[in-house]
Amino acid sequence: MAYKIAVLPGDGIGVEVMEEALKVLDKISSKFQIEFEFREALIGGAAIDAKGDAFPEETKEICDWADAILFGAVGGPKWESLPPEKQPERAALLPIRKRYELFANLRPAIVFDALIESSPLKREILGDKGFDILVVRELTGGIYFGKPKGIFDENGKKKGIDTLIYYDWEIERIARIAFEASLKRKKKVASIDKANVLNAMVLWREIVNKVAKKYPEVELSHYLVDNAAMQLIRDPHQFDVILAGNMFGDILSDEAAMLTGSIGMLPSASINESKKGLYEPVHGSAPDIAGKGIANPCAMILSAAMMLRYSFDMEEAAKAIEKAVEETLNEGFRTADLYKKKEQEILVGTKEMGTRIAEKI
Ligand code: IPM
Ligand code: MG
Repeated sequence: MAYKIAVLPGDGIGVEVMEEALKVLDKISSKFQIEFEFREALIGGAAIDAKGDAFPEETKEICDWADAILFGAVGGPKWESLPPEKQPERAALLPIRKRYELFANLRPAIVFDALIESSPLKREILGDKGFDILVVRELTGGIYFGKPKGIFDENGKKKGIDTLIYYDWEIERIARIAFEASLKRKKKVASIDKANVLNAMVLWREIVNKVAKKYPEVELSHYLVDNAAMQLIRDPHQFDVILAGNMFGDILSDEAAMLTGSIGMLPSASINESKKGLYEPVHGSAPDIAGKGIANPCAMILSAAMMLRYSFDMEEAAKAIEKAVEETLNEGFRTADLYKKKEQEILVGTKEMGTRIAEKI
């Protein structure tokens, strides 16, 4: 039986990096004798241009059919003048997360040994070893989705409203994901809230404490989000798994990504209770370099590895991809975003990077 994969390249460099991820999956398929069935569909700006809708019906059908969704990136200047709710980010990304209840967003922020120089942190903070943080972000609740939401008229004045709501069951299920993930790592969870001000976050802390009782071997600490933002820069090594709600997780995952210095390297997974998942690079569509063949395909390729691990339970195949990426970096191959003009470095384009990684599998 073939594993069913929806392929949504989207816009900008999404299209270029997706090609390389498929190249790598082809190698995985022959090496591990696994059959994949791919169906491609339009999403984001490309779908607006062709169908007048960022997440059209045909794309929904293909995503419904699939066991996992590979997602490139959406958006670009061409669609920025559309009304906010019609723009690719809000009209494609948020609905697709909600449609499949992809509540658990896993965003690893890892400093690869070969890229340690890319981190903007001083060496005295970073040390000789990089760091390895997993941000577990709640993705289908909180202030992104709470009602009322909108811009309303009130006695001739306009008011904009978003509502922060968390139900106990939403907190519980994402907390469980974080604790489970920590068991395979350093057994440390840092839960992020703003319990000194926000009611939803008082409940957040209470429920996380309750879930923690089932994981006595895991060390739990609570951080107010402002302090967490500071601690990440002061000493990233204190973090293993970071557990956060939708908005705080959005912000802290960008901060953690920047600390690695190479956003072109970072994958992500968004999964639901039945392990259906959407896998996408953390970077966006990068319109400034789109079409030039210079984008870094590693984040997309590593997202495919996360798909094998989380949706298909293929740990060995996932590791094979991760190892191939690491070896390619160790040999000195760099796309433009990583290239520091050092002697041992070899500048390559998107396709060559993808081919080199695929060859190592
Ligand atoms: C992300 C992005 C999205 C988010 C935007 C594009 C809607 O920033 O995936 O982190 O805020 O979730
Ligand atoms: Mg973000």
